[in-house]
Amino acid sequence: MTAEKVEIFDTTLRDGEQVPGCKLNTRQKLKIAARLDEMGVDVIEAGFPVSSPGDFQSVTEISKLIKNAAVCALTRAVKEDIEIAAEALKHARYPRIHTGIGTSPTHIKYKFNTTEDKIIERAFEAVSFAKLFVEDVEFYAEDAGRTDNEFLARVCEAAIKAGATVLNIPDTTGYCLPEEYGAKIKYLKENVKGVDKVRLSCHCHNDLGLATANAIAGIMNGARQIECTINGIGERAGNTALEEVVMILRQHPTLNLTTNIEPRYLFSTSELVSREMGMFVQPNKSIVGANAFAHSSGIHQDGVIKNRETYEIINPEDVGVTESAIVLTARSGRAALAYRAKKMGYELTKLQLDTVYVEFLNFADARKEVVDTDIHHIMELSKKNNVAFA
Ligand code: KIV
Ligand code: ZN
Repeated sequence: MTAEKVEIFDTTLRDGEQVPGCKLNTRQKLKIAARLDEMGVDVIEAGFPVSSPGDFQSVTEISKLIKNAAVCALTRAVKEDIEIAAEALKHARYPRIHTGIGTSPTHIKYKFNTTEDKIIERAFEAVSFAKLFVEDVEFYAEDAGRTDNEFLARVCEAAIKAGATVLNIPDTTGYCLPEEYGAKIKYLKENVKGVDKVRLSCHCHNDLGLATANAIAGIMNGARQIECTINGIGERAGNTALEEVVMILRQHPTLNLTTNIEPRYLFSTSELVSREMGMFVQPNKSIVGANAFAHSSGIHQDGVIKNRETYEIINPEDVGVTESAIVLTARSGRAALAYRAKKMGYELTKLQLDTVYVEFLNFADARKEVVDTDIHHIMELSKKNNVAFA
């Protein structure tokens, strides 16, 4: 059975760029957008054009540049936002307007001071108005994660009647449990009239560290678009990480779901975004962190040297990392030391290795990591002090 496609909607340049101190200029955004297009992203959310002249310019220029992906612009359910987004998108080959409104009791009461019926009216009007400019209109029900499912279904029906092509169900505050978020998508699939005509989309935040798990729960229950960012950056604790969902689908063929993303671009794209935004990637970040394919304990190193699959579920080359790293520390064993020494041109007999290992441990205990220059030094010391090298 052929795998079903899940569309990847990248919002690095919109939700991702909301990270304090990570603002990008138009030139930087164009560079990242070009890479996203090259790696196979289906939709690039390029910005929020009404928010500033700079964002308007970036969306305009990205629209001119991108040839494969749809280019999307965010708006509130406000006519002026939608008109300005349409203007910024006018050169896009595949333009999409992303409009919506808050639907949770908290948003309705404190942000809008209005009623549920008025929210439904505004949702309908915003989508209808956006449809005057573009065919492809995505509607978001902000804070859907904390919205009652029955009411959410009514909002979704209104958006579909107005012509929405995609319904975004954001867990804006990152509150849902995976089971709960999956059940929400299932409920909408089963109870919204006309839902078969649209694509449901997962947009999950990471406040409880569940953004990726929630997005996966969403697609396992029928959503077919994931909104995500490179390195999981985004408002507060961030969004679902693109590299994580792409690799989860790839490494779990029983899900029978696929994406258009070429995974060998993942590592270099992570580096590109990190560099342009000046935002470092935590070393233990899945898939793209510096330690994602680094092995430090002696037991693991011994296993990986014998066969990579003992401690790795992904071939690093698949995501653009040249090779697994064996990090030498005081926790490393003889196998790792011999492996590194051999790579550096030192073929050691068993007796020599025993000698070098003693020097190595003395050295390693005083340091966080033993690097190649240290190995040369350890070899010299061992040669001087021991008959095994005579
Ligand atoms: O988190 C959210 O709800 C959003 C919407 C604007 C789509 O980013
Ligand atoms: Zn968001």
